[in-house]
Amino acid sequence: MAKLKIGVFGAGRGMTMVRQLLGNPDAEFVAVCDMYQPSLDRCRKEAEEAGLDKVAYYTDFEDFYNHDMDAVVLANYAHEHTPYSIRFLESGRHVMSESLTCVTMKEAVELIEAVERSGMVYTYAENYCYTAVRWEMRERYRRGDIGELMYAEGEYVHDCSSIWPKITRGERDHWRNQHQSTFYCTHSIGPILSITGLRPVKVSGFETQNRPFMWNLGSAVPCAGMEIITLENGAVFKSLHGGLKHNEPQSNYQLNGDRGAMKDLAHGKLAVYTEGENENCRGKHEIYEPKPVIEAAAATGHGGGDFFTTHYFLQSILGDEVARERAIDVYKAVDMCIPGILAYKSICNDNCSVKIPNLRNKEERDAYRNDTFCTFPEIAGNQFVPVNIQGFEPIPDSIYDEVRRKWLAGEEG
Ligand SMILES: NC(=O)c1ccc[n+]([C@@H]2O[C@H](COP(=O)([O-])OP(=O)(O)OC[C@H]3O[C@@H](n4cnc5c(N)ncnc54)[C@H](O)[C@@H]3O)[C@@H](O)[C@H]2O)c1
Repeated sequence: MAKLKIGVFGAGRGMTMVRQLLGNPDAEFVAVCDMYQPSLDRCRKEAEEAGLDKVAYYTDFEDFYNHDMDAVVLANYAHEHTPYSIRFLESGRHVMSESLTCVTMKEAVELIEAVERSGMVYTYAENYCYTAVRWEMRERYRRGDIGELMYAEGEYVHDCSSIWPKITRGERDHWRNQHQSTFYCTHSIGPILSITGLRPVKVSGFETQNRPFMWNLGSAVPCAGMEIITLENGAVFKSLHGGLKHNEPQSNYQLNGDRGAMKDLAHGKLAVYTEGENENCRGKHEIYEPKPVIEAAAATGHGGGDFFTTHYFLQSILGDEVARERAIDVYKAVDMCIPGILAYKSICNDNCSVKIPNLRNKEERDAYRNDTFCTFPEIAGNQFVPVNIQGFEPIPDSIYDEVRRKWLAGEEG
């Protein structure tokens, strides 16, 4: 059978997927697009070193779009995934989208309907769900080892201040300078939904202050966002993400059930506490290092999680039922993302609680069809809301000039 022809849009993070395609038995890396030429040059070097000399390199998106490919990986700007996903799906191409899924509730509805209409495979590359520890947590939760979930925490705390010049290039309107505090929420929310299979039904949002260490780098976004989510079984879930100063590790996932608890410890270790019937407080403690379900994952980034997103995407296209069950489909992707959109509505309304719809149900969609509430002016139109409702000083151009200078000089923030 001919290999799947795969294109990659965005050659920054997209290189993670490119590397997995080099020498892949099921897929051929055929084209890449990035308007930043040095990223394309780096990609060409790696591909040619791997023996690929027929890859097409595009700086222009339309040329890339017209290239012959069966599927595309979207690793372009985080706030532009939905329109590109819809265009590719409607042209008969399968899509794997990097984070985030969508920016508005309107986009959430449109994305779901495009997947349903097209019948193409859409998967979401939420790699934090797939580390060996978090997969083991999923297996054990679903086996009932800790009973019914009562409380969970998901934390992705990543202080990017030192790399801010490199990842924003001094662009005022780069998405990393423009999103709301609760935008980048699927690394913290995703794993808990993936482990438990539970749906979020209600959210209240909170955010920290912005502080000079980020304002001086061009970001007026409050440094961290938090969603306090009620899950469909009544459990409470705290999701925290953003650029706080922190001790290692950057992420924390824990679940407390009515018969035990689990916690993702640093360095690939899992702690589990389990109780039998009538064994209150006298259960068993274990700490161990689970192995990935596929050995090859161990060598890849983000604790092995990077392997599975691309692997399950390709195998889903090829019709593998196990992969289809394990991949994150459009409904789960939307469940992981929209609590962050609705949490910002909550923040703008004194942290009130906001219902999270189940957009699998067609009758719940109409209320959101025209909801463009967001912090990106060109997407929001008249429903635009600023990133900073706490009234910080506007950031002058001289700050962005300095960040750009640092980027070009290879200096850290
Ligand atoms: N899952 C993870 O662990 C992880 C890690 C890093 C980044 N990401 C995600 O990957 C995506 C890319 O992030 P990034 O770190 O590479 O930074 P980025 O968002 O700044 O880079 C996007 C790249 O796409 C290119 N691009 C965007 N629009 C284009 C267009 N119309 N034509 C040509 N090129 C275009 C840009 O030149 C840039 O190189 C984002 O969605 C981000 O959220 C995920």
